[in-house]
This record gives sequence, structure tokens and C-alpha cells, in this order.
Amino acid sequence: MPATPRVCACGKKAADVKPNIFLPREAEIVRVEKTTELERVFTLRLADGGRMEFAPGQIVEAGLFGYGEIPLGLASSPTRKNTFDLVVRSVGRVSSALNRLEAGQSLQLRGPLGRGFPLEELRGHDLLVVAGGIGLCPTRSLIQYVLDRRQEFKRFTLFYGARDPKQQLFTSELADWRKSKDVEYHETVDKGAAGWTGNVGVITALFSKTRIDPGAKIVICGPPIMFKFVVRELDKLGVPHRNVYLDLERRMKCGVGKCGHCQINDKYVCVDGPVFALSEIEHLEEAL
Ligand SMILES: Cc1cc2nc3c(=O)[nH]c(=O)nc-3n(C[C@H](O)[C@H](O)[C@H](O)COP(=O)(O)OP(=O)(O)OC[C@H]3O[C@@H](n4cnc5c(N)ncnc54)[C@H](O)[C@@H]3O)c2cc1C
Ligand code: FES
Repeated sequence: MPATPRVCACGKKAADVKPNIFLPREAEIVRVEKTTELERVFTLRLADGGRMEFAPGQIVEAGLFGYGEIPLGLASSPTRKNTFDLVVRSVGRVSSALNRLEAGQSLQLRGPLGRGFPLEELRGHDLLVVAGGIGLCPTRSLIQYVLDRRQEFKRFTLFYGARDPKQQLFTSELADWRKSKDVEYHETVDKGAAGWTGNVGVITALFSKTRIDPGAKIVICGPPIMFKFVVRELDKLGVPHRNVYLDLERRMKCGVGKCGHCQINDKYVCVDGPVFALSEIEHLEEAL
């Protein structure tokens, strides 16, 4: 029997009706892990049984009724099926309320939103990911993606910097990366602690530990001050700015290009980004 086309009340076929960008979907918390004093890793699945289709680097607006919603980077790879991860750092009203939720409870999600990492441009090249602090969350989505499709990328190097050993996120994954032959992993902390035998110093010091080819593609995510110093190192190596991608964080509200909160000149970080090529934004005042 031919399927009856689904038709909206307004008379349009279902395929012609755009999803409502303001309508949240409920997500159930499968697992919560306290990864540091301030951060929790939430493993989630959509309550309607659907899949969260997203690209590494995209974000969601995560909401809790009575509190509001905040932008969060998707922190796991779409290649890892059925569930997805978000990491929340408690800094204020909404993030602290989210971090009080437990497994079995739900939250509301809008998205995925924005433009993620340009996978097509990264494929087939050497790749260096530079992640500082909570910047490891969105880049973890890319890191897992590259590890799951390792043959599609050439040399893969990862620099991770945290404030001190206690602030390191995803510690069991870090242990895997230290041993892995699929990624050349270098890490540092700004301040050491008892038992820490690794590097101490800023993330740019890691450039002296290895050789980065000037033809490599570079992805950077971290505190704004880090961008400037990492780009300075890349300039010394002769990496063209069109090969450098930055994951920018700005205050966001709507997440869909309507409110102007995230605007930098003619760019809206929520829809034009959050990932930008350095060559695209370096001329914009306040971008970096
Ligand atoms: C593209 C993007 C991706 C992000 N990904 C993550 C993530 O994966 N995990 C995570 O924990 N946080 C992430 N953030 C930051 C997160 O959205 C803010 O921490 C959150 O909005 C704070 O809201 P609040 O109500 O808890 O705090 P508020 O009470 O609103 O503010 C508390 C403090 O947080 C600062 N703050 C508020 N909003 C932002 C913002 N949008 N960016 C930076 N600082 C802010 C304020 O200046 C203030 O110092 C991301 C932000 C953006 C724009
Ligand atoms: S957050 Fe509203 S326009 Fe970007």
C-alpha cells in the first residue's frame, strides 16, 4: 500500500516543514560523572528515541525549566552511537542547576547548532589539535572522530594544557592517549602537584617537544589569551592562517542568529561559527 504523505495542519508536506529552531527536545541523563570539582560529564540520549545528528564542533542550547538555557559544545563524536556527551562547568545559575541533575532525570536541548570543524578540509592532512582547559570538550568530539576514522587523516598530534593536574578532564581517556600509537599526545599543566612528573608550563612550550609541518591543519580551542600565543608559534613555523581553525566562545542567548548577543562585526558566532578559519576573522576587531 503506498504510504500516505504526512501533511502539516497548514497543508505543507512534512518534508517541506522546517524543524522549529526554538523547540527543545527532551534528553534523558544516562550517566553523570564528576570529572573535576567544577565539571560534570553528562551522557545523554534523546527521550523520543531519535539520534542526535551532529558534526564535531557543533553546540546545543541546554535548558532547564525555571532556570534558562546555555550553549554547550557537544563533547563526544557522532561516530560513537546512540548516546552523546556534554560537559558542564559550574560557573553560574544555569550551569550550577544543570550540575545538580542526576542519572534518570532530563534536560531540554535545542540543536545541534552552528558550524563545526571543517572535516572535509582536515581529511588527508596532518592535524594538530591544541586544547586548553575546558576547550578539550568540543575538541574531544573531533579527537574521537579522528581516532575512529584514523586512516582518513595523516599525522595526528594533540596538545592539552590544564591549570593543574586536578583540573585535567577525561583522565581515563588521557591515559589511553598517552599509550596510543594513533595520536602523538603532549600535555602540560601551568602548576605541578605532588606526584606529577609531566611537563609544567604554558601550552606553547609543547611546540618544542615535536615538529609540526607547515602544511598541517591546526585546530585551537581554549581561553582567548591562548589563541594569541599559539598563533604566534604557528607564525614562526610558517603555517598559513587559512589552515588554522579557532573554536570561539561568546555570550549566546538564542543560538540561532536572531538576538545579536554573539555578534562580532558582521558575524554571528552561533550560526557562522563557533568554528572559524583564522583568515576569516583576524581582521575583525574584538574577534580575538
Ligand atoms: C560556543 C560555546 C560553547 C560552550 N561550551 C561549553 C561547554 O562545553 N561546557 C561548559 O561548561 N560551558 C560551555 N560554554 C560556556 C557556557 O555557556 C557558560 O558557562 C554559561 O553560559 C554560563 O551560564 P550560567 O547561567 O551558568 O552563568 P551566569 O550566571 O550567566 O554567569 C556566570 C559567569 O559565567 C560567564 N559566562 C556567562 N555566559 C558565558 C558564555 N557564553 N561564555 C563564557 N562565559 C560566560 C559570566 O561572564 C560569569 O562570569 C560554552 C559557551 C559557548 C558560547
Ligand atoms: S546567540 Fe543570538 S544571534 Fe547568536
